[in-house]
Amino acid sequence: MDRSDYQALDTGAVLAELGDLASAFSLVHLAECDSTNTRLLTDLPPDDGRVHVVAADVQTSGRGRRGRVWQSWPGASLTFSALWRFAPGSPVPAGLSLVAGLAVARTLEELGVEGVQLKWPNDVLVHGCKLAGILVELTPGRGRTPAAVVGIGINLQLPPDASVAYPTGVTDLATALGRAPDASRLLGLLLVQLHRLFDVYSAAGFAALRGAWQQRNAFADLPVYILGEVETLAGTCAGVDDDGALLLRTADGLRRVLSGEVSLRLA
Ligand code: BTN
Repeated sequence: MDRSDYQALDTGAVLAELGDLASAFSLVHLAECDSTNTRLLTDLPPDDGRVHVVAADVQTSGRGRRGRVWQSWPGASLTFSALWRFAPGSPVPAGLSLVAGLAVARTLEELGVEGVQLKWPNDVLVHGCKLAGILVELTPGRGRTPAAVVGIGINLQLPPDASVAYPTGVTDLATALGRAPDASRLLGLLLVQLHRLFDVYSAAGFAALRGAWQQRNAFADLPVYILGEVETLAGTCAGVDDDGALLLRTADGLRRVLSGEVSLRLA
């Protein structure tokens, strides 16, 4: 397998994979942009009932959580963002990034990837190494339907000399599958999963998906540290609650950790 096996994203193939759901999406494919999240946040698409998706082959300023950079090489990763709108008056969609992680995990499982796990709040791991990351950014809702930009980056085939810092290492789909991944099929399957799970989430909240998330929790019942900006908490990972907050069993009792500027590490 070499990098020439890479199949570039083909919007026709993505729409074919979406089948009956194709009309629910608007899909824009760019050869290059700064960041697909930034594109949607800057040029907010019309509220026409569709989910607006921007995918890019290369991002020049790809962003991760906590101010990190999402690095880009042609063909190395599937990078896209989807704008999801919620009913007016909906509460802040707290568990959204966990739902997106679950959608990625289910898609990878559908493709036959083994050892898929979720690291709170929103990393997708395969055999302990990071394969995908998610960055959810909310749009200012004043006078408008509340909306969230859900940005997803999935490593397809990293260059052999790529240096990506992550405590337990990174991996890619080519390694997990033993063959070059088909980016169009992956995106189509993933949009179907996101559509399905966001429907459940809108109707019943994260509580309805909590069990499925916890089944894949990489740190269930393991000793962990939560590194915050002002304090570090130590305890045992006791899963997540109905809002998607992490539950940490500490010497002082159960603590609830909200997904903010914190980072989870195995103790
Ligand atoms: C993380 O692991 O910290 C989150 C990474 C999110 C990367 C994706 S790639 C598509 C979208 N555009 C961005 O600039 N970031 C997200």
